[in-house]
Formats: sequence, structure tokens, C-alpha cells
Amino acid sequence: MSANQSNRREFVASAAALGLAGSAMGKSSSKSAQGRVIGANDRINVAVIGTGGRGFYVADKFDKYNGVKANSCQIVGVCDVYQRRVSRGKERFKCDGTLNYREILDRSDVDAVIVATPDHWHAKIALEAMDKGKDVYLEKPMCHTIAEVKSLIDTVRETKRIVQVGSQTTSGDQWWKARKAIADGMLGDMIMSQGSYHRNSVDGEWNWKIDPEAGPTKSGDDYIDWKTFTAAAANSKIPYDADRFFRYRKYWDYSGGVATDLYFHVMAPMNVCWGDAQYPERVIGSGGIYKFKDEREVPDTFHLVAEYKKGFSVVLSSSMANSEHIPGLIRGYEGSLIMVEHGRFEGFAPHITVKPEKRVISADYKAKWGEEPIKIEVENKDTMFTHIGNFLDCIRSRQKPTLDVETAARAQVAITMAVQSYRQGKVLYFDERNFKVVDKPVRA
Ligand SMILES: NC(=O)c1ccc[n+]([C@@H]2O[C@H](COP(=O)([O-])OP(=O)(O)OC[C@H]3O[C@@H](n4cnc5c(N)ncnc54)[C@H](O)[C@@H]3O)[C@@H](O)[C@H]2O)c1
Repeated sequence: MSANQSNRREFVASAAALGLAGSAMGKSSSKSAQGRVIGANDRINVAVIGTGGRGFYVADKFDKYNGVKANSCQIVGVCDVYQRRVSRGKERFKCDGTLNYREILDRSDVDAVIVATPDHWHAKIALEAMDKGKDVYLEKPMCHTIAEVKSLIDTVRETKRIVQVGSQTTSGDQWWKARKAIADGMLGDMIMSQGSYHRNSVDGEWNWKIDPEAGPTKSGDDYIDWKTFTAAAANSKIPYDADRFFRYRKYWDYSGGVATDLYFHVMAPMNVCWGDAQYPERVIGSGGIYKFKDEREVPDTFHLVAEYKKGFSVVLSSSMANSEHIPGLIRGYEGSLIMVEHGRFEGFAPHITVKPEKRVISADYKAKWGEEPIKIEVENKDTMFTHIGNFLDCIRSRQKPTLDVETAARAQVAITMAVQSYRQGKVLYFDERNFKVVDKPVRA
């Protein structure tokens, strides 16, 4: 057994200890299923697990992708632990539906799954899916814990499955243009990047609509399998709570709040544009519940500072109680890259702008690019279709997708560490060699 396999088995064992014993996870075998070989003209059969807001939307986009490239894929199964959402999916996609995701994974006609459950289920379902020979479109955040990051990396290596992590933002053209500008030397040595994700709306507060008639003691469309919903959570014994089910982003058991819900869309593309994705060396998460003093556990206002060994840092700010952004900016010693002048770091703008640092640029720099701001045009792509198209192409070619698990891992570690830092009130360090978060600097 390889070291990777043994790490993964340890993770499976710990998942069993969390209440999943006896599940298909606990029976995970080291011999991975291969999956169907898909020809250029074969339609890819996709099933969706978690047909809430996001899963339904993403499955709909997969279905509509056939309008971009004919006969690409079809939705052949839907799954959710809330029967109303199973029924809605069955009706929309004219396919089978189930409350039990293992029934989807056991189907030999399913080539790939979309995982769009709350975060605490992402890794567990994705790992099991890969063991069953499925490729995975795995919604962001990639997972919920650092141990899961490692298991996902190991399992992708071991099973050679395609995993596209669903930050469609990384398929935006601006990051690839920024990546080229940075690689060409237009910024010089990297100093720091800043971004923000601010909003002030009911949706932004995460106090989403609750269906009061639904629950685990109800029948028909009102039935919710609460036992399964909580089975993968750290606290799996908690009694049914509609706020936790419908507004799970407010609770640590299922989410990392702002860090995992919003910052993933900033940290993942940033790692793409650096060209060389990085694990952080030191991370601080801070903030608080300043305004929304309801049942929530996660802060409504949250800051992340991540520092990197190569000698640069990232500073992110977010509040759900104020909508003014800090302009997205990547600062280098010889130039700054303005991503969006008007708002969110990862939002679309028709151009990005390089502003040279006139005091320090060399004659060579001036000869190449001059000393005035340079606008670089950005193509306005449908990022969802681009991300989905790339995933389907990679299923056929077996090439690495746009947001592969290794790049996503770098972003995930930074945001998960920020959550831990906030919760523990500590500055935290990443021991990359042992893939562990520690509270003292790691010696080189
Ligand atoms: N990429 C993006 O821009 C984007 C946007 C929104 C949400 N998301 C991500 O999508 C995920 C879902 O978010 P949402 O807003 O759709 O939440 P949601 O609550 O609307 O939907 C999640 C669904 O998963 C179901 N579920 C929970 N555990 C399950 C299990 N074990 N098996 C099957 N179904 C299960 C729930 O019943 C629910 O219907 C989150 O991780 C979120 O971060 C990504």
C-alpha cells in the first residue's frame, strides 16, 4: 500500500468515526473502478447530488451546454435529501431521482457527478464517487477540512479521475491575462494582492427562505432526511433545526462562512494568475458578528491575511453589512495590476490595467512597456459554460481541468486556515511537508 493510499484509508477511518460507519465510504476499496471510456461522439451521462439552488442551476447549465456543443451530455439522475428537491429535479430533467446518493454512485451508466451539497459533504461524496470510477464537478469550496484537502489530492492521483472544482470564476479571461502579464514581468517582484467581497442584502445575510412545512417527520415532498444531512458533520447528533438546514452557511458544522463561501472565488483565481500556485506560510482570520446578532455562529464581517514564502501577501476584506468594495489589485515592485476599478476582485471588467511604478522601473521595462498605464482587454466569456465545457472536454481527453484539485488545494488551505485562526484566536502556520496546520513558525 502506498503512503497516499494509507493516508486516504486513515481519512476514511476517521470519517467512519464521525458517524459514517457502515456507509459505502467505510467500505471504500483500494482497487478503483475505471469508468467508461468515452469517445469523441459519446454523450456524457451526468447526475447531480444536491439539487438545491446551486445544484439545480448547474445541472440546468450542463443541460443547456448542449446548445453550445450538440450532444455533449445529459442529466440522467438527481439526488437530494429533501424530497421536494428530488421531485423538482426529476420533473425538470425527466430522469430518475433518489434521496440516497449511493444509489447514484452505484449506477454503471453514470459517468460523472455534480456535487452541490453543503460543504461538509463535498469531499466525502467526491472521494466515494472517484472510487466508483466517476469524474466529479465539485462545487466550491472544494471541501471542509485540511485532512479532506489531502485525501482529495491523493485520491485524484490514485484513481486518475477528473475533478473540476466549481469556481467558475477561474474560467474568466482576466485571470489568464493577468497570469501572462505577471509571467512577462510587467509587475516585477510580487508584493501583495488585495480583494474584497462586500454586500448588504437579505440574500447576503444568508437568512434564506425556510419551508416551514418540511421536516424529517413529514411525508411525501415535505420529507427531509435530516439524519443523512448531519451524518458528515462534526456534530451529527443535533436534532432537526430548519435554520441549520435551509441556512447552513451560518453554522460551522456545514460551512466556513465568508471564507469558504466567498473568498474561495478570490483565492482560487489568484492562485491561477500567480502561475505557480502556493500554499500559505502564515494565515490570520479576524472579524466578528457586528450586525446580524441572530443564531449564526459565523462572523458577518471577516478579514483574511495570508503570507507566502516567496515574500508576498494577500489581504481580503468582506462584510455582509456594507456593500462598498475595495478595488481588486495585485501589487508588484515595478507595477500594479488593477483587476476591477469598480468593485469585486473577481467581477468582470472589460479590461485590466497595469500601472507602472515610475520611480523604480528599469530602462529595459520602459523600452518594452513604457511608463504609462496599459489597458489589457478582457474577453467577456460565459464562465459557467466555459468551465463546464472544459470539464466535459477533460473527461474525454483525460487532461487536467482548469481548476484542478492541486490548484484548488492551495486556495482551500488558505481559507480553511483563516476559519481556524478566527475560531481559535491564533495566528496559524502551514507545515507543508506534513500537510498540517500548526501554531508555531515552521522551520525550513
Ligand atoms: N460556484 C458558485 O458560484 C456557487 C454558488 C452558490 C453555491 N455554491 C456552492 O454549492 C453548494 C450548495 O449551495 P446551495 O446554495 O445550492 O445550497 P442549498 O441548501 O440550496 O442546496 C444544497 C442541497 O444539498 C442537499 N443535500 C445535503 N446533504 C446531502 C446529501 N448527503 N446527499 C444529497 N443531497 C444533500 C440539501 O438538501 C440541499 O437541497 C455549496 O457548497 C455552495 O458553496 C457555489
